[in-house]
Amino acid sequence: MDHGLRQLRAWLAWQQAAGAVDLVGEPADPALALPSSVPTLPEAAEPADARPLAALLPGMPAQAIAPPVRRSETGDVATARRLALACPDLVALEAALAGFEGCALRRTATRLCFADGNPASPLVLIGEAPGAEEDRQGKPFVGPSGRLLDRMLATIGLDRSRFWITNCLFWRPPGNRTPSPQEVAVCQPFLERALELVQPRIVLFVGGTAARTLLGLEAGVTRLRGTLRSWHPDWSPQPIETLVTFHPAYLLRNPAQKKLVWRDLLQLCQRLEADSGAGPGGRPH
Ligand code: URA
Repeated sequence: MDHGLRQLRAWLAWQQAAGAVDLVGEPADPALALPSSVPTLPEAAEPADARPLAALLPGMPAQAIAPPVRRSETGDVATARRLALACPDLVALEAALAGFEGCALRRTATRLCFADGNPASPLVLIGEAPGAEEDRQGKPFVGPSGRLLDRMLATIGLDRSRFWITNCLFWRPPGNRTPSPQEVAVCQPFLERALELVQPRIVLFVGGTAARTLLGLEAGVTRLRGTLRSWHPDWSPQPIETLVTFHPAYLLRNPAQKKLVWRDLLQLCQRLEADSGAGPGGRPH
């Protein structure tokens, strides 16, 4: 397909996913306007150097995140850490989680919901917690939020063969309530071990909970989103590029905010392009 046409189709698909009903009119807030030119989006099969997204996006200052000070762990959290660290691969980690009794959520959930997608990808997405459909299927982001997320990612050429996706919590909180700090804390060692095994180079935090949990940040998602941050956890030999965006459940309630997620995904594209041309040690995708 002609390159310009492909760009236009990607842009239109995005607009549709964002709920656009016509092609006229100005955004109420000019600061939220999309770029005036249609950006070039990467496609799985194309070499990254054909698409100069960097030229379309103003440079965003990357912020560096120091490793958080690790508190001494006790009780179920310490048990979770010991179990997780003993797992040599993701299969063992999922089995360890399945046998772990230290998270009360497992008693109300239908099943464990661990992860989906391609663990060999340099890109990892992390959400908050399984909802009703995820609880039924045992896979993250397969309900209404997941379908919106999939549609948005498809507009930039990403499907689940191009990223690995998981949550901070591996069991559904009853009625989708906010997880307690203890529930988050007992799942965190498993999440960190999973990331250590996957060794992502880019992490997209889907919603603020995941970013606050892993990066030790305190701000709300509105402040956190849209800024590239370089994260250097002690289990990673190299810094990991991170980006926070709005959770699709929030977008379902506030469709006007989808335009900001579009910007975040353009930044993600740019980062993935830079990564696909990575030098020694890089994993082209
Ligand atoms: N919301 C999340 O954060 N994760 C899911 O898997 C589903 C909904």
